[in-house]
Amino acid sequence: MNVLPSPVTELAYLAAAVCFILALKGLSSPRSARRGNLLGAAGAAVAVVTVLLSTDFEGANLAVVLGSVGVGSAVAVPAARRVKMTEMPQLVAIFNGVGGGAAAIVGIMELAEFAGHDVKLVVAGTTAFAVFVGATSLLGSLLTFGKLQGTITSRPIVLPGAGVLLVAALGAGLGAAVAVTLTADVWFGVVLALLGLAFGALLVLPVGGADVPIVISLLNAFTGLAVAASGWAMGSTLLLVAGTLVGASGTILTLAMATAMGRSVNGILFGALKGGSTAGSTQVSDRPVRRAQAEDVAITLAYASRVVVVPGYGLAVAQAQHVVAELVTALRARGVDAVYGIHPVAGRMPGHMNVLLAEANVPYEQLIEADDINAAMPSTDVVVVVGANDVVNPAARTDTSAPIYGMPIINADQAGQTIFLKRSMRPGFAGIENELLFADRTQVLFGDAKESLTNIVSALKDV
Ligand code: TAP
Repeated sequence: MNVLPSPVTELAYLAAAVCFILALKGLSSPRSARRGNLLGAAGAAVAVVTVLLSTDFEGANLAVVLGSVGVGSAVAVPAARRVKMTEMPQLVAIFNGVGGGAAAIVGIMELAEFAGHDVKLVVAGTTAFAVFVGATSLLGSLLTFGKLQGTITSRPIVLPGAGVLLVAALGAGLGAAVAVTLTADVWFGVVLALLGLAFGALLVLPVGGADVPIVISLLNAFTGLAVAASGWAMGSTLLLVAGTLVGASGTILTLAMATAMGRSVNGILFGALKGGSTAGSTQVSDRPVRRAQAEDVAITLAYASRVVVVPGYGLAVAQAQHVVAELVTALRARGVDAVYGIHPVAGRMPGHMNVLLAEANVPYEQLIEADDINAAMPSTDVVVVVGANDVVNPAARTDTSAPIYGMPIINADQAGQTIFLKRSMRPGFAGIENELLFADRTQVLFGDAKESLTNIVSALKDV
């Protein structure tokens, strides 16, 4: 179906690449994220159609390609439509793994094509890179999916001699990559892919708890680099550009998430191998706290001048984004200066709170980032912590032994009063106690966040 003249094909690829770049720009702000997403999807559609219209498919290959696109769409579209917001990181992990696997398969197919031809060292070497890194990303991503989904434990799994095995897999992978570079032999390519799978498993298994989503982002960067390498090997500028964009943005996101959690990428990947653990306990504290009732909370909020709502993972679990927006709107209507304090890693994925609150049509102006909200904390009357814990835990500032030590937090302890909405005394993701729960100026309203907020909103009407 080679019906497109070459300049048109090149122009179409350029248009797709421009769409990808504008998509990333759009995704940098919640206000333009939807448009960015649509632009990215449009770029991908232009790219796929251009490939179909500009390639001479031999024999039944076109049917295989169309069949694969059909099967992929039939699986991915319903999965993406049905996925719950709290399960989004798993979906990203699976899609990312599939991308890495595709890059590895493309690399192996290229090696099969090279048979009997003179192949430049740099082309064979780049293909080897795509095969190894793509395979690493495939199994690594599938394992992170299992950890987040609960199919395998989310705690670090450290096999006996894990460090040695990891280095051995990397060393053997480098050896096989050199063999592929020198011979361009497809069977060395298959061995290289198997070593990439082993390396991916050994890299990801010791990572646990809160670090898993950071590793997904890192593997995303790996997939981008593998795709860029296979694009270089195949002479496809589009794959090269798209892969480089994914590689660069994945790397930036990985570093940003690690910084927001106060962790180093080195510690995330190799902490458990050195004997440290990132997963906390799930012990429930039996220390007494001051309990609150919805009616009292409504009165406190109604007579406050400034209220900050700090949402966290529990807001997503309770799906309480609409009712929290209702509460803030009702308070603002009464003249209370009510806003949201958004911590960069509240929830379980980057931008989790922004996405949830956007669903409830909360104006972006009401979402205040951690640094800015902290500056206003001493003049804030009440902080309502809705299903958050670690992101307001002062141990991050004071307790050098805490797993979250060094993570920037929202300083809810500096406000006049703090009200926690949570179901029990279970700790947050890091598995450590939060002293703020026991402070004199703190009250806890126990219950599901949606239910508690509904009760507060209804009590507010009588104040
Ligand atoms: P967490 O510290 O995990 O605390 C969540 C709180 O929500 C818990 O105290 C839980 O207490 C409560 N909760 C759960 N379901 C609830 C419900 N239905 N109603 C009311 N409360 C509910 O969350 P956070 O403060 O958002 O902090 C995020 C943590 O996840 C950080 O440690 C961060 O490093 C980590 N993390 C973040 C990311 C990203 S990128 N956002 C990725 C991975 C890990 P009860 O069970 O008692 O209700």
